[in-house]
Amino acid sequence: EGKEYESIHATIVGDGTVGLVTLDRPKALNALSHALMVEVVDALQAFDASPKIGAIVITGKGKAFAAGADIKEMKDKTFVDAYASRFVHHWNAVTAIRKPIIAAVNGYALGGGCELAMMCDIIIAGERAQFGQPELNLGTIPGIGGTQRLIREVGKSRAMEMVLTGKHFMGAQEAAQRGLACRVVPGEDEALVAEAISLAKEISKQSKPVVALAKESVNTAYEIGLTEGVRREQVLFYATFGLQDQKEGMSAFVEKRSPEFKDK
Ligand code: CAA
Repeated sequence: EGKEYESIHATIVGDGTVGLVTLDRPKALNALSHALMVEVVDALQAFDASPKIGAIVITGKGKAFAAGADIKEMKDKTFVDAYASRFVHHWNAVTAIRKPIIAAVNGYALGGGCELAMMCDIIIAGERAQFGQPELNLGTIPGIGGTQRLIREVGKSRAMEMVLTGKHFMGAQEAAQRGLACRVVPGEDEALVAEAISLAKEISKQSKPVVALAKESVNTAYEIGLTEGVRREQVLFYATFGLQDQKEGMSAFVEKRSPEFKDK
C-alpha cells in the first residue's frame, strides 16, 4: 500500500497492524500547510478504513513535530477569506477518525502543531518535545482547539500563561507530569517512534470494535457533562455484549488462557 504524498509519508508498520504518518517538510519545520493537512486527513482516513490496522502513529521528521499552521500561507488572508473558506475546518476530520491515534511528538509542537497533537488520543513525548501556543506573537489566537483542549490538559493558569504570552513553552517532562503526554521517551527520535509503534501494536491486539467503542466513550468526556457521559458510556458498554469478542474475552479469562479476538 504505497500511496505517494508530497508532504508526508504514510507507511504500514508493526507487522501490518499500525499506520505510520510522518510529516515531512523538515525545512519548514513541518508547517501545516493546507496541502499537508489534506494529505494527513487522507492518510488517516485510509488507515481508518483498512481492516488490518488497529492504531495509527503520527510523528514529524527533523527537529519539529510541527511548528504550526503555515504562516506564509495565512498572512495575507482577510477576515472574509478566512471566515468564508473556513481554511482550518477540514482539520477537524482528524477527530472523526475512529481508530486510536498516537502522536509521537519529537520536537516543536507549536500552535497548530500542538493542536494537532491534542486532537490525537495519546501523546508520547520525545525528550526534545516543546509544546506551545505562540499565536499571540503573530497577532492571532489558536484556531483549532488550542484554547479549548489545552486548559483541560494542563489547567487554566498554565494554559493561560502559554496562550497569553505566546512563550513559556512546555517541555517533555512537564507535559508528562501534567498529563498532556503519557510519558517521555529518552534518546533519539527512532526510539520515540519505536515506542509509539509498540504501543499502537499493543492496542491493535485488542478487538477493533471494542477499541472503537472505548475511544468513543473516553472522548465523550471531552464533549459533554458527567451524567450524560456516564449514561453514554453505559450504552456503549452494553453494546459490547453484542460482540463475539466480549464472549471470547470473558471466556478466555475464566478458562485462564489468552483471548483470540476476531474483530466481531
Ligand atoms: N509556518 C511557515 N513556515 C514556518 C513556520 C510556520 N508555522 N515555522 C517555521 N517555519 C519556517 C521558517 O520560516 C523557516 O523558513 P526559511 O528557512 O524559509 O526562513 C524555517 O521554517 C525554519 O524556521 P526558523 O529559521 O525560524 O527555525 P528556528 O530554529 O530559528 O526557530 C521556531 C524555530 C521557534 C519553531 C520558529 O520557527 C517559530 O517560531 N515558528 C513559528 C511558530 C508559530 O508561531 N506557530 C504558530 C503558527 S499560527 C497557527 O498555528 C494558527 C492555528 O492555531 C491554527
